[in-house]
Amino acid sequence: MYFILTRLAIAVVLCKASTSEEITFKNVTVEWVSDTGGNTTVVTSNSLKNDVPSGEEMSVNINGEVPILYERSVSDIENLKSLVLSGVDLEEIKPGAFVNLPVLQILILSKNKLTELKSDTFRDLNVSTIDLSQNSITTLQPETFKNINIRHLTLSNNQIVEFPSGVFENVTLGSLHLYNTLLKTIAPKALATTSLSSLVLSENKLEEIDPEAFDMPELTSLSLDFNSIKHLRAGDSKNLPQLNTLDLVANKLEEVPEGVFNNSKITHLKLNYNKISTIASKAFEDMSKISVLHFDHNNLTQWDNNWLGGTSNPDYVMAGFNQFSEIPDEAFKNYPKLYSIDLQGNKIMKISPKAFHKLERVVNFSLRDNEIDSWGPDWLVGVSIGTIDLSGNKLKCIDGDLDDIFKNNDFVQLEDNPWDTECAEKIKDFTTRKEKAPKTRSYVPN
Ligand SMILES: *[C@@H]1O[C@H](CO)[C@@H](O)[C@H](O)[C@H]1NC(C)=O
Ligand SMILES: *[C@@H]1O[C@H](CO)[C@@H](O)[C@H](O)[C@H]1NC(C)=O
Ligand SMILES: *[C@@H]1O[C@H](CO)[C@@H](O)[C@H](O)[C@H]1NC(C)=O
Ligand SMILES: *[C@@H]1O[C@H](CO)[C@@H](O)[C@H](O)[C@H]1NC(C)=O
Ligand SMILES: *[C@@H]1O[C@H](CO)[C@@H](O)[C@H](O)[C@H]1NC(C)=O
Ligand SMILES: *[C@@H]1O[C@H](CO)[C@@H](O)[C@H](O)[C@H]1NC(C)=O
Ligand SMILES: *[C@@H]1O[C@H](CO)[C@@H](O)[C@H](O)[C@H]1NC(C)=O
Repeated sequence: MYFILTRLAIAVVLCKASTSEEITFKNVTVEWVSDTGGNTTVVTSNSLKNDVPSGEEMSVNINGEVPILYERSVSDIENLKSLVLSGVDLEEIKPGAFVNLPVLQILILSKNKLTELKSDTFRDLNVSTIDLSQNSITTLQPETFKNINIRHLTLSNNQIVEFPSGVFENVTLGSLHLYNTLLKTIAPKALATTSLSSLVLSENKLEEIDPEAFDMPELTSLSLDFNSIKHLRAGDSKNLPQLNTLDLVANKLEEVPEGVFNNSKITHLKLNYNKISTIASKAFEDMSKISVLHFDHNNLTQWDNNWLGGTSNPDYVMAGFNQFSEIPDEAFKNYPKLYSIDLQGNKIMKISPKAFHKLERVVNFSLRDNEIDSWGPDWLVGVSIGTIDLSGNKLKCIDGDLDDIFKNNDFVQLEDNPWDTECAEKIKDFTTRKEKAPKTRSYVPN
């Protein structure tokens, strides 16, 4: 009997404890603002609905400690437009916490202590933004974001290791930010929400672009910078038919084979800050829309004049800070007109007399900080270059009539070269004269 009584007593205590625990908002500050008013109150309650007025649409900011959002704690508020629960030590969201919030647009749950997101947590919401950045989320369960319509979702700065399939079940999603997590793999189709247009996966641990995972028919922008991608393979971008921007900065690439970007609509391709030492002749073949191509800060030694065959004219070719030592014949023949070519910071010593043949017009051409020690008088015949930067080279003199040699240039940068004393005066006179001359070259984008 004694035992039974104690047990009962304990049960009652536990029961009481658990009901009193189920108060979501304990002594927290609720700040609401609408177009015509606002107030700040300290509340203790189970439901935010009791703490804010009905009527006009409003934004609510909660300060204090909210360790658990219990079922229906943020529900049935017909005028809640924006809710900020950031830095409130939130550890858990019970499914059913967010229900019937017809005008909710913004839900900020950043800077908390969430470790997992359960199935159905955000069911049936139709919002503009959900921000779950800077939590400690390791696990995403299937159907976490079921039947949801959301424009911007951020899960950045968490501890997510894998992205299983089924997290997005019947989801309409515009952009997804998942930078700086611990993602190593993405399951096939895991991100295949039909509408995803922008995906940021920077600063993860991804090692490949698996076309089964990167199968997003409407994706236009993909950021994969600061990952560990070592190999690109033919067909990697085949399931990204609308992609126009691909950022692969600072991965571990050593080679760009042919067929990776075949038939792509990419306009901006960033391959800079890798360790690329080989780019296949046809790696950029038929990239009909390419406009900005970065492969600077790599380990390339050979300039290939077949690159970019079958393309329209790109606007920028950024190739600085590689190991190029030579510019071959007709080096730029596949893109006769463009805004800028940057070859600064290479080891260029030898320039073929026909290097610039078939090039017609460039606004800005940098060869600064190379090892060029001579310049032929007729190299630039037939090409119009707005600014040519030859500073920081090893030129001791340029023979011939400088006004003639550089007649198709508006600006000629020649500083920081080891000019011979007898040549220095000629260079200085020319530069002064050139600075005063009228400028003519302009640029019409393709
Ligand atoms: C409520 O919070 C304030 C600080 O925000 C604190 O000073 C006060 O002691 C708290 N009251 C209770 C009953 O916890
Ligand atoms: C703000 O809230 C307090 C506490 O609920 C209330 O006494 C006060 O009248 C409110 N002020 C306004 C302007 O609504
Ligand atoms: C979602 O909200 C937008 C506007 O906020 C509205 O146009 C759209 O019809 C809503 N969709 C659904 C399925 O409720
Ligand atoms: C998909 O989600 C929408 C709400 O965004 C819902 O109306 C629809 O019934 C769901 N469809 C299925 C097949 O679950
Ligand atoms: C990529 O395109 C080039 C040029 O059209 C073609 O020669 C090559 O076979 C294609 N490669 C793949 C893997 O599709
Ligand atoms: C660059 O390539 C050369 C061979 O061409 C190689 O010896 C060197 O280790 C490479 N450097 C880096 C940083 O990969
Ligand atoms: C020309 O190119 C160099 C090197 O890419 C760049 O630093 C400079 O700003 C460019 N100038 C103009 C006018 O575009």
